[in-house]
Amino acid sequence: MLGGDATEAIAARGHTVFGLPRSELDITRSADVEHALGALRPDVVVNCAAWTDVDGAEANERAAMQVNDTAAAMVAAAADSHGAKVLYVSSDYVFDGDKGRAYVESDLPAAISAYGRSKQAGETSVAIANPRHFIVRSSWLFGAGGGNFVETMLRIGREQPEVIVVSDQVGSPTYTPHLAQAIAVLIESEEFGIHHIAAAGQCSWFEFAQEIFDQQGLETRVMAGTTEMLARPAPRPAYSVLVSERPDPIALPHWRVGLGEYLAARRARTAA
Ligand SMILES: NC(=O)c1ccc[n+]([C@@H]2O[C@H](COP(=O)([O-])OP(=O)(O)OC[C@H]3O[C@@H](n4cnc5c(N)ncnc54)[C@H](OP(=O)(O)O)[C@@H]3O)[C@@H](O)[C@H]2O)c1
Repeated sequence: MLGGDATEAIAARGHTVFGLPRSELDITRSADVEHALGALRPDVVVNCAAWTDVDGAEANERAAMQVNDTAAAMVAAAADSHGAKVLYVSSDYVFDGDKGRAYVESDLPAAISAYGRSKQAGETSVAIANPRHFIVRSSWLFGAGGGNFVETMLRIGREQPEVIVVSDQVGSPTYTPHLAQAIAVLIESEEFGIHHIAAAGQCSWFEFAQEIFDQQGLETRVMAGTTEMLARPAPRPAYSVLVSERPDPIALPHWRVGLGEYLAARRARTAA
């Protein structure tokens, strides 16, 4: 999702961008990373590649670590050796969710899932490997080009009259083109370090689902469930809203605006 939108957003600001899918560059292969950076000579490497299967990571923590930590560190080090900055995309899941208030950049991560631990480790490794690093933590991404919660809800809405969605996890659903535009601005700067960049506003997955059906004009009934009821393999933070304590943060539109834009773009694609 994010890689495609980041490629577009960075190109839209007049830069030359090489958007490399996994089929063109597997970031776990150090010789290939070295070769790609040597050939392309970038000023910035934006690493959107990741193990993103949160539940799957529980049984495959080593594999998740290999991509989200070891390979990310290697990409960051290779960028450094070619004089390039690096941007690593991280997650609200590096936090345990127990703070009860929004998380700021200086809060200490304490991941509770294998995926969260792999992103937390990746943050540290990237920072060590390349002093000119941006660590961008975002949350609950949805966008074109990947499976996401909005598509899951719309599919369920077509197939059944009601759905149970958890109401005890709260975050900020972030539209990937909004995050991509922020990344495109950030990489032009020298504001290195951790950045919290997520949609404005907050909601539970239950409220997000309700808004999806409302905006799409579907009558699907949404019932509130608990995390315990759904018994997913990976634990998730109960409250992982991200805000920035930076003096001049890059602010994103509200998640409802992002959802509206996503559904409009989806309708335009269907009509075309
Ligand atoms: N999704 C969220 O809710 C969320 C929230 C916060 C942060 N993030 C972070 O945001 C970033 C972008 O995530 P996304 O939502 O855009 O995920 P995505 O759609 O799953 O994209 C991840 C991409 O990484 C690729 N990839 C996996 N292993 C690779 C490897 N070894 N070499 C090269 N590419 C590889 C995947 O390729 P294949 O499709 O071929 O596997 C996929 O294209 C990630 O760092 C993620 O951790 C995501």
